[in-house]
Amino acid sequence: MQLPDSLAGRLLGWYAAGHRALPWREDHEPYHVWLSEIMLQQTRVEAVKGYYARFLSELPDIAALAACEENRLTKLWEGLGYYSRTRNLQKAARIVAEQGGRFPDTYQALLALPGVGDYTASAIASAAFGRREAAVDGNVLRVAARVTGDEGDIAAPATKKRVTAALAEIIPLDAPGYFNQAMMELGATVCLPNGAPLCDFCPARAFC
Ligand code: ADE
Repeated sequence: MQLPDSLAGRLLGWYAAGHRALPWREDHEPYHVWLSEIMLQQTRVEAVKGYYARFLSELPDIAALAACEENRLTKLWEGLGYYSRTRNLQKAARIVAEQGGRFPDTYQALLALPGVGDYTASAIASAAFGRREAAVDGNVLRVAARVTGDEGDIAAPATKKRVTAALAEIIPLDAPGYFNQAMMELGATVCLPNGAPLCDFCPARAFC
């Protein structure tokens, strides 16, 4: 699989021209990026917004999360579901606190945190630390497979591997976080699943 070189430039231009104003896009603070990515793992953007704001107003930094009483943490998460995420969040917060409060800043080190998988490690590494890591979730897989005409099974690990390698070739050095956000945005707002993509508005239209 090969993605066109010009995809990155077009995508970034399209993203810069307008995108959803999401609260976790307002800064690149690792704690904020991490929390949002954990909340977004199993939960829709619209549902996460309110929880994200409330969580951060109650627990504004990683030390506060590390020290938070279990009941209070469960209350802050109530309704979001998949409660193992809170246990992992706190475990990770305590690991970071023990390391002097410095958040791990590479893909590999992030991957070692409880609750952080392949996609989440890449998303944090790129958005918070400017690392050139492609974050490949279901949306991004679909976009890349459509652009390249890849007929492979989207759920197959081999397809994800091909997409990750192809993205790694074109992910811009100076804006990996924006590139990943833009791919997600395209998948969420234009390159929609179920045969209903809004191709007239797509920056990749010329070569898809
Ligand atoms: N889904 C997973 N991570 C996301 C993010 N940072 N923004 C929007 N949707 C997402």
